[in-house]
Amino acid sequence: MVLNRRKSKQTLKHFVDKIQVLAVVCNQWGDTGKGKFVDFFSGWADIIARGTGGANAGHTINVGGKEYIFNLIPSGILYDQYGKINVLGNGMVLHMPRLIEELEKLNELEISYSNLRISSNAHVTMPYHILLELVSEKAKGKKAIGTTLRAIGPTYADKIRRTGVRVNDLLNPAKLEEKVKENYAFTEAVLKGVFGLRKKDIAQLMKDERLGSGRYVYKGKVNISEIVAHYSFMGNEIKHLITDTKELIERKLSKGKKLLLEGAQGLLLGIDHGTFPYVTSSDPSINGLCSGVGISALSVDLCLGLVKAPYMTRVGGGPFPTELEDEALAEKIRKKGREYGATTGRPRRIGWTDLVALKYAVGINGPNLVLTKMDICDGFEELKICKKYIYSNEEKSIINGKEFSKGKTTTSFISDGEMLSKFKPVYETAKGWEGPINEFEAYNDLPKELRNYIRAIEKFTGGKVRAISVGPGREETIIRD
Ligand code: IMP
Repeated sequence: MVLNRRKSKQTLKHFVDKIQVLAVVCNQWGDTGKGKFVDFFSGWADIIARGTGGANAGHTINVGGKEYIFNLIPSGILYDQYGKINVLGNGMVLHMPRLIEELEKLNELEISYSNLRISSNAHVTMPYHILLELVSEKAKGKKAIGTTLRAIGPTYADKIRRTGVRVNDLLNPAKLEEKVKENYAFTEAVLKGVFGLRKKDIAQLMKDERLGSGRYVYKGKVNISEIVAHYSFMGNEIKHLITDTKELIERKLSKGKKLLLEGAQGLLLGIDHGTFPYVTSSDPSINGLCSGVGISALSVDLCLGLVKAPYMTRVGGGPFPTELEDEALAEKIRKKGREYGATTGRPRRIGWTDLVALKYAVGINGPNLVLTKMDICDGFEELKICKKYIYSNEEKSIINGKEFSKGKTTTSFISDGEMLSKFKPVYETAKGWEGPINEFEAYNDLPKELRNYIRAIEKFTGGKVRAISVGPGREETIIRD
């Protein structure tokens, strides 16, 4: 095949020519390849802010040819040396030992983080949160959510209960002690009452390396004073980075500075709109992200929603209607797409891109789409497209006020995880394209089968595909004029 290498007029810069606030979010279950875009736009922005989630996210930073995985520090940290501000916003939950470890790694790699700022209102993951998550995930058995075991849920639970420890509390030992005592008493009552643990079982579990390797155990009991002392110490280590980040961002925006909002996880994993209860505990939508950094959603000039196509992935438990039954095909895609979790290393589940779910996501994150990993399915003869679900359970269910019995179809997304698992996808077949598509540079030169596939996505979802990513390199992005 003779490839046409006509130059596209546009690069990613085209998106940010005349704007001040850009958001990059994921429209699926996470892992849609945000890294490359966040990295590119970090070069444009003055401030790079995260607002949701915590150490459950993972991204790779490449320094001197070596790859390092970071969970909390935004990808924009490599731009700190140019005076760019990286923010961990109020909506985040911070795993303190992991944060300190990442800062130490940055020191070791001689990467500056002097402009990193941490919201005083972000919540702090405490050792008893991790303990609770380990115990409750285990107790769920087959119904386990398959969390990253970074205690995202228990930390947000204390936030919602209005008792959680905030970053600022770390700098006020008396307040910290009071809160830790109160929260620990509550957690211990749950561990005993719900999970049947005894004090000595709890102390034993606390010896896990994820819980300080026995650091918080003294004479067979959990040692609250040590938790308080250690967390105060860690608070002091980051004291110079803690500030009112909402006010900081507001001030910078009023001076015309440019802001990049870095989403984490994905819309379908969101506590409000995701496949509940198989979700994380933050709202990774554009709305949650704005709230998590303390700005109005109205100030976002452009929100790019990332979508993996023609295949998508999920890590952990929960329904995935279009998941491939053909394990050989799934493995082929997994290998070629390097689909293994950055935080946990788990192999990702593979399925066809679900347009019912995407239409739902477009309704929340808006119409601007970037399709990623498209090159992975180069050379596939045919692709499956899901525009409908069919209820496949013998027993009837009421969903969103409507009765579903076997055979009934819907084109609406079902955000109740248990209910969604009762549906199967109804597929249409689309023709695949020959590759390699990363040799093309202009959208209109791409194979017509690929453009037809994109047209089908747009027609069904109401979204507008603004760019497609055809490889890991920045330049391997085709912008649609
Ligand atoms: P948690 O956020 O650790 O509580 O995990 C809840 C669910 O979200 C699990 O199914 C995780 O696998 C999934 N999850 C959390 N963070 C990510 C992510 O960054 N990418 C993909 N899945 C994630």
